[in-house]
Amino acid sequence: WGYSLDQAIRSGIENPDSAIGLYAGDAQAYTLFSDLFKKVIQSYHKSQDTHVSDLGPIELEDLDPGKEYILSTRIRTARNIKGIPFPPHMDDQERTLVEKRVTGACRHLPPGLAGVYISLENLDTETQNRLRAQKLIFPKGDRFMEAAGVNRGFPKGRGTFISRPGDPKSPGNPIFMIWVNEEDHLRIISMETSSNIARVFNQLARGIQSLSTSLEFALDPLYGNLTSCPTNIGTGLRAGVHIRLEKLDKKRQTLERIVRAHHLQIRGTGGEKTRVRKAVFDISNKHRLGKTERQIILDLHQGLK
Ligand code: ADP
Ligand code: ARG
Repeated sequence: WGYSLDQAIRSGIENPDSAIGLYAGDAQAYTLFSDLFKKVIQSYHKSQDTHVSDLGPIELEDLDPGKEYILSTRIRTARNIKGIPFPPHMDDQERTLVEKRVTGACRHLPPGLAGVYISLENLDTETQNRLRAQKLIFPKGDRFMEAAGVNRGFPKGRGTFISRPGDPKSPGNPIFMIWVNEEDHLRIISMETSSNIARVFNQLARGIQSLSTSLEFALDPLYGNLTSCPTNIGTGLRAGVHIRLEKLDKKRQTLERIVRAHHLQIRGTGGEKTRVRKAVFDISNKHRLGKTERQIILDLHQGLK
């Protein structure tokens, strides 16, 4: 589809401080440039296993019902629609097509997950700021995504489908949403202001299962779900919490040791490549390939405990 090796490595060339520096503009990039992608994938995910999925319901104890440490839980996955180039290589028309297909599929979500689609085009600044503070919409991508071509035409053809299952006053105030045409065609997200990881995961799994019946996703027999960034293949799952660790904040080496031992990663309070503020860490699984979704959630729960 005309996506070149030069385009695949451009973000890494322009940003020598990249952790990965490689992007796929379509599903074929993974086979066409497999010599390179294979090495990057093995080194990031530490796995040579074939992708296996398990989205069955999970039961787990709530780690911190009193919210002493854990402020919120967010679990997301990434998907791209089969037959359409990925965000680094798609054009305006293809973005509009993805919006149409996703909003169409959202009409078939189970009643608890039904909601509305908010286009990022023509949003006034006040609404934008409010939705951004609530983490419901996404900003234009950073310099890594810029160099990869993901930001072209922003905010045209981008938006968020948002549903608010249940009563906004119910425990944890659960939210289910889909970011459309951010780094991937779909970022499917489930979150709530609690440490009830199982509930957040089960809601996400219901959403994924419903969307998978209406949309055909780009899937590889070995790598599972294919994504713009090779760090997100496989399950595409990033399951994490915002956790306030005031004492470990002063013992970063100890924290990093624990996190590494459980194959987790630390991100900043505002997301990837941001700073940790007021000792609120974003702790989530690092690898998305080589374990089922269920195993990733169980390992996260154990590590946090
Ligand atoms: P992604 O998870 O989509 O790869 P980021 O790490 O940039 O990307 O996170 C996206 C947004 O989600 C950021 O605004 C970040 O602060 C927010 N976020 C991440 N984890 C949580 C959480 N557990 N609770 C609340 N917000 C979160
Ligand atoms: N391309 C960036 C880098 O190599 C980000 C990699 C992982 N994050 C992502 N959002 N895909 O540092």
